[in-house]
Amino acid sequence: ALEPSLRPQYLHEYIGQDKIKENLKVFIEAAKLREETLDHVLLYGPPGLGKTTLAVIIANEMGVKLRATSGPALERPGDLAALLTSLEPGDVLFIDEIHRLPRAVEEVLYPAMEDYCLDITIGKGPDARTLRLDLPPFTLVGATTRAGALSAPLRDRFGVISRLEYYHVDQLAQIIERAAAILQIGIEREAALELARRARGTPRIANRLLRRVRDFAQVRGEGGITLPLAVEALERLQVDRLGLDQIDHKLLSAMIEKFAGGPVGLETLAAVIGEEAQTIEEVYEPYLMQIGLLQRTPRGRVVTPAAYTHLGMEVPKR
Ligand code: ADE
Repeated sequence: ALEPSLRPQYLHEYIGQDKIKENLKVFIEAAKLREETLDHVLLYGPPGLGKTTLAVIIANEMGVKLRATSGPALERPGDLAALLTSLEPGDVLFIDEIHRLPRAVEEVLYPAMEDYCLDITIGKGPDARTLRLDLPPFTLVGATTRAGALSAPLRDRFGVISRLEYYHVDQLAQIIERAAAILQIGIEREAALELARRARGTPRIANRLLRRVRDFAQVRGEGGITLPLAVEALERLQVDRLGLDQIDHKLLSAMIEKFAGGPVGLETLAAVIGEEAQTIEEVYEPYLMQIGLLQRTPRGRVVTPAAYTHLGMEVPKR
């Protein structure tokens, strides 16, 4: 049997991101009252915070279908044109990693977003003509980890721009308790809180930890997830008390041991620990900065004294 989906389907099931939720509720209600299509929405923030989930919810709340794709999947203008012409009025088109949309494809998107039109060029040189096709009205929901990487003309065409924030521990604990109920596994409040503290502010990580800890609980034949069981499982998963994993540890200790704590450039760091620069920049660093273990400076990355302390190392005097 397939694992049940943990994704909330409607706004009232969605925990956290209260500002975004309250605003979306108003915009959706207003669009429905006016019998209009919802304005285009840009969601940005670190991975795993619920951008795709919000796109699903927007479509459900508007009572329309969701079509999902991603920036890198739309290689040529024709790929986007095919999608746009197959939409039904009011549909939500979700483009994940929208900052990776090829330039030529982005240009097809401008008139589509602004006037629900598709401009097609036929012929070449002096004989070239453009045809303008009408499209059904639609809502574009774009998602990106890097709003700064979006071109200004694209960013300007979104009516709603929302930044997702890391979740608080109590919100993550609620998300874990909701997921545990769906997965039909009992969990003590203290265990949910412990998982939440180690989930890096990220529901996707919280739910992943829950599934793995559930494996330990079920193989042990114990009824539910108790605090001692959760702590033991997390130790085996090598997730430390701040939620840092092996890669975070490798990154911080390489900075300390090989570069005296920094500054060190991103590409150098990536080469030394054998990870993609982009993954370090978009997945690992944002949380390390959020909890104050790492800083970005114009000269490169530096660790903070708190990083030494967390790794059980002496803070160097200077
Ligand atoms: N599962 C993952 N993210 C969630 C959220 N924000 N609210 C409820 N359940 C979730």
